[in-house]
Amino acid sequence: MNMVTLFFLFFCAHTRLSTSIPSRYDKIFSFGDSIADTGNLLHSGALANPVIGRLPYGQTFFRRPTGRCSDGRLIIDFVAEKYGLPYLPPYLAIAESLESKAKHGVNFAVAGSTALDAKFFYDKGIGRILWSNDSLSIQLGWFKRLKSQMCTTKQECDNYFKRSLFMMGEIGGNDYNYAFFVGGTITDLKRLVPLVVETIISATSMVIEDGAREVVVPGNFPIGCSAIYLTMFETQNKTAYDGNGCLKAYNAFSKYHNTKLKLALEKLREKYTRVRIIYADYYGASKALSHIPNHLGLENGLTACCGGGGPYNFNNTARCGHIGSKVCEDPSTYANWDGVHLTETAYRHIATGLLDGTFTSPPI
Ligand SMILES: *[C@@H]1O[C@H](CO)[C@@H](O)[C@H](O)[C@H]1NC(C)=O
Ligand SMILES: *[C@@H]1O[C@H](CO)[C@@H](O)[C@H](O)[C@H]1NC(C)=O
Ligand SMILES: *[C@@H]1O[C@H](CO)[C@@H](O)[C@H](O)[C@H]1NC(C)=O
Repeated sequence: MNMVTLFFLFFCAHTRLSTSIPSRYDKIFSFGDSIADTGNLLHSGALANPVIGRLPYGQTFFRRPTGRCSDGRLIIDFVAEKYGLPYLPPYLAIAESLESKAKHGVNFAVAGSTALDAKFFYDKGIGRILWSNDSLSIQLGWFKRLKSQMCTTKQECDNYFKRSLFMMGEIGGNDYNYAFFVGGTITDLKRLVPLVVETIISATSMVIEDGAREVVVPGNFPIGCSAIYLTMFETQNKTAYDGNGCLKAYNAFSKYHNTKLKLALEKLREKYTRVRIIYADYYGASKALSHIPNHLGLENGLTACCGGGGPYNFNNTARCGHIGSKVCEDPSTYANWDGVHLTETAYRHIATGLLDGTFTSPPI
């Protein structure tokens, strides 16, 4: 199998000003990868003719491709809606007019990006599989540039960010995806976890030092329930699967990362006692999608809506949007969109679990 094509997938502004009630937040700043990207990868031009720039991506809500890796809205879009803010513009689309276009925040997330610098992967000889080099440190550089245009003194900046919500991810998922897909074992990858966690923590510290007062730090998803993992690591060994049909060992790996991240956040809270540092349990909020799909009105929690066949409708030679792939009739009855990313329905469910449910700690 061609490794470059194999990896293609991992990478994967409208304005809706709501009425009256003054919102808790007046700006949102978002960092991360394809889970939160609202158009940066597309604007970066890193890929020639990327599939996320074509239908069926975007078909459900925007009715056109926006660069989001889904059929519709993402978690970050539902967060913006919740606080009555416009959908976050991608930084690369408005970089030349930040002062007028970043009034309610900016999205720095880039599909395919990693927590660790791209150089880390180039040094390991697997850099060519990266869709994007715009890792967390690059995104933080964009943030610094924005800040320098918006405020000067500490007091001015504190005031500017006073009612801002910061979302530090999800990020780090691709660091593991890339390493798993070139043959890394779970034991190998556990060694990567402290490095990834440390990078997320130092990015979080940096935005706090820059004035952030409310920061959400999401953990990783149950990757063992993801159609691409289920396809790539399919096994006849029945004990490798849990009762929902997910790969236990890969889910345990996500939990391992999340546990380390939560521990590190505890320490950060001790250091910054006046900052609200919120852990977002993407794992827990997603688990119901495979655990009780019918209860959520889903036909299937594991099979991709858009793909080219196979037991999970993920086929690397006929990926969503390519010849040989088909879109399901009703994406709202699927959790998985293209084998890697989730549907709008799934993201809405997760967002509800975060914003109105029990999956943030302390509660958002
Ligand atoms: C990322 O950086 C490497 C090394 O500097 C370069 O060869 C590659 O073209 C870059 N990739 C993208 C997508 O910009
Ligand atoms: C089957 O999977 C279980 C759980 O992951 C593992 O402990 C066991 O070693 C596997 N058995 C074989 C024969 O690979
Ligand atoms: C995957 O797609 C290729 C190309 O369209 C096709 O030949 C193959 O049969 C598909 N595999 C499965 C398992 O559907």
